[in-house]
Amino acid sequence: MAEPTLPLPPAFPAPDPWIPEPLANPPVVSCAAGFEPVVAEELRELGHTACYLKPAKLVLPEAGPDASLPLNFFGRTLHRVYLLLGLGRAPTLQDVRALAQTVPFHAYLHPEQRFAVRAQRHGSHDFTSMDVAREVGSAVVERVQAHTGRRIRADLDTPDVEIMAELSDDQLLLLLNTSGPPLHRRHHRAFQHFAPLLPTLAAALLRLSSFPNNVDLLIDPMAGGGTIPIEAALLARNVAPGLLLPEGQLALFRLSFLDHTAWRRLRHRAERQVRPRSPVPILAADRYARNVRGMKANLEAMGVAADVTVCAGRAERMAYLERQPTGRRSIVTNPPYGLRLGDPRRIDRLYHDFARACARHGIAEVVALTPRRDSWLEAFTQAGYRPALVQPVRYGRLEAFALRVEPS
Ligand SMILES: C[S@@+](CC[C@H](N)C(=O)[O-])C[C@H]1O[C@@H](n2cnc3c(N)ncnc32)[C@H](O)[C@@H]1O
Repeated sequence: MAEPTLPLPPAFPAPDPWIPEPLANPPVVSCAAGFEPVVAEELRELGHTACYLKPAKLVLPEAGPDASLPLNFFGRTLHRVYLLLGLGRAPTLQDVRALAQTVPFHAYLHPEQRFAVRAQRHGSHDFTSMDVAREVGSAVVERVQAHTGRRIRADLDTPDVEIMAELSDDQLLLLLNTSGPPLHRRHHRAFQHFAPLLPTLAAALLRLSSFPNNVDLLIDPMAGGGTIPIEAALLARNVAPGLLLPEGQLALFRLSFLDHTAWRRLRHRAERQVRPRSPVPILAADRYARNVRGMKANLEAMGVAADVTVCAGRAERMAYLERQPTGRRSIVTNPPYGLRLGDPRRIDRLYHDFARACARHGIAEVVALTPRRDSWLEAFTQAGYRPALVQPVRYGRLEAFALRVEPS
């Protein structure tokens, strides 16, 4: 039987080459590969139609550059927001150069600004990503000089403006970064867990659960530094990510063609919409006292300590649930994988005992991110659950799965 996965958003029939008119650039958002359908759903709620461009990239063909402000502000699952500068076939280095030369870079950069081209290459080529960066960089210098008579300088360490050049086989994608560093850098971590989940992935996992609408208690029984409960509390309290981002971090403030005053308006609007408390109780636990202490410090640092009950305890028992109200209980978690410990049988045992504890405590759904799909699904099937979603995702370099199980 085919495993239940989420359908990809529709592909956009892009012209080849596609060089948008200056200042009519559609946003492109990045995410973890495999989460594109989840991100497209969030974008739909933000009022956009998103189309699949390539793994981990969605394009918003109907939106323009100014949409990058609300996207950076409100997007919880987005890694970065870019503007599309160009897209087209470029099998050789000469083609890379020729395509880049057609992009009106002078519309986006001033000669007194410093720029960097970051190149990535996937597929087999007889040149390197550094060659790609050099060719695109030369095209930037030429276009700005032709238009202004002045030579723009590169600065790879602290650029004002960052251009991404991604060559996937023979497809070149040129993007302008409006986010700067990835948007998951919105959590202040007083305590650094050894394997923290990215807040953007925590937000994506939460979207695979029924939280916050149809849940009476949200639980992360293996919460580590608390990323999932923190994201849950921020979501439930309607704290927009833009309220947490240091403005100096955002590249969009160095893009002079964008209307920066919109950011202040978004801030004011978002501040008024924050709820004082999470309407849904959230419980976070970990086996180790050090993590429990660290998680409390992280919740405190993020201003959501009052929204989350923190317990020490083993996921195989979840004894703390006996003191909690009954109702629809949902678990969203990022369990250990055992890849470091090296003994998969210990993880199999943990997953089995945890699945049985879920059944005992009447857990209505369990959403998890793990590379150990078979072990997880076998454990939960034996405990009386069925897979409702088996979504292959990339987690860094790891082939992992976002899994949702429900009582069968
Ligand atoms: C992958 S980490 C979770 C990281 C977390 N999502 C974060 O962002 O910090 C898995 C966590 O499970 C905890 N853990 C391992 N075995 C456990 C058990 N039997 N019961 C409860 N927690 C356990 C570990 O201490 C670790 O903090």
